[in-house]
Amino acid sequence: MSARATVVEVGPRDGLQNEPVTLPAEAKVRFIELLADTGLTVVEATSFVHPAAVPQLADADQVLPAVHRRAGVRYPVLVPNMRGFERALAAGADAVAVFTAASERFSQANIRMTIAQSLEAFEPVLAAAREHGMWTRGYVSTAFGCPYKGAVEPSAVADVAAALDRLGCDQISIGDTIGVALPGDVPRVLGPVLDRIQPGRLALHLHDTGGRALENAAAGLELGITTFDGSASGLGGCPFAPGAPGNVASEALVRWLHGQGYETGVDPDALAEAGAWVREQLATPPR
Ligand code: COA
Ligand code: ZN
Repeated sequence: MSARATVVEVGPRDGLQNEPVTLPAEAKVRFIELLADTGLTVVEATSFVHPAAVPQLADADQVLPAVHRRAGVRYPVLVPNMRGFERALAAGADAVAVFTAASERFSQANIRMTIAQSLEAFEPVLAAAREHGMWTRGYVSTAFGCPYKGAVEPSAVADVAAALDRLGCDQISIGDTIGVALPGDVPRVLGPVLDRIQPGRLALHLHDTGGRALENAAAGLELGITTFDGSASGLGGCPFAPGAPGNVASEALVRWLHGQGYETGVDPDALAEAGAWVREQLATPPR
C-alpha cells in the first residue's frame, strides 16, 4: 500500500488573482468544476477580499454559489476579516482560509494590518468558521523571503504558524510567495515550525519563480510534509517578478508524487487539460 499525499489546488484563487486578464464568472465556475473532476480533494475557489485589492476575483459572491459541488471535495475561500467571512458564509462556503505573513512589511502592504492585527482579525473569523463546521486553513506568506525586506527569520515563521495553530486552523500552509527558496532553506525554515506543529497539519505553498519549486517540495517531503499547494498549468505569476512563472504546476506535483510512490487520487492528465482550458480562456500560452 502506498502512502498518501495531497495536492491543494489554488489555481482559481492564487493563479487567477495574478493573471492580468479577468475571466467571466461562468469560466471560473467551469474551471473549478473541471478541477474537482480530476480527483483533487481541495480546490481553493476564490477570495472574499476587498474587490479593489484583487479585481480579478471581485465576483466571488457570484462564483462560489454557482459551483456544482462534488461530494468529498472542499472549496476553501480566502477571507481577510469578518466582512469577508460574512460574504463567504452568504455564498455557502464550506471552508475558509485566513492569510498573514512572516514579514511585517509584506503584511502591511498586502492587507494593511500588522501581523498582530491580522491575527486579532482572524480570531473571530476562525471562531465563527468553527461554529459553522467549516474546515479552516491559515497561510504564512513570505516565509522564505519578502519582496520588500529580503531575508525573513525562521523564528518569525514559526511564531506566526504557532499563532495560527493556537487560533485553531486545521491546516497551516507555509508559503514561498515570491519563489526564492532553495532546497537547503526548506529544513532551515520548516525545522522550527515542525518543533511546534505536526507535519500532517502543514502544507508547503511553493511558487516556481526561481524554478526550484519541485526540488523544494522534495525537501519538504523528506521532512514528512505530504500536502503541497499548486495551480493547474502553473497558472498565475508574481507581481514582484514580471514574466516569472506562477505557483508550481499542480499536474507536475501530482506526477512527481506518483513517481515517489505516493498516491494522490488525482489524474494528472485531466489536471493538465483543465489548466490548458483555462489558459485558452485567458489567451495565455502554456509555459
Ligand atoms: N470584502 C469586501 N469589502 C471589504 C472587505 C472584504 N473582505 N473588508 C473590508 N471591506 C470594506 C469595508 O466594509 C470598508 O467599506 P466602507 O468604507 O464602505 O465602510 C472598506 O472596505 C475599508 O475597510 P477596512 O477594514 O479599513 O479595510 P482596508 O481598506 O484596511 O483593507 C483588506 C484591508 C484586508 C480588506 C484589504 O487590504 C484586502 O482585501 N486585501 C487583500 C489582499 C489580497 O487578497 N492579496 C492577495 C492574497 S495573498
Ligand atoms: Zn501564492
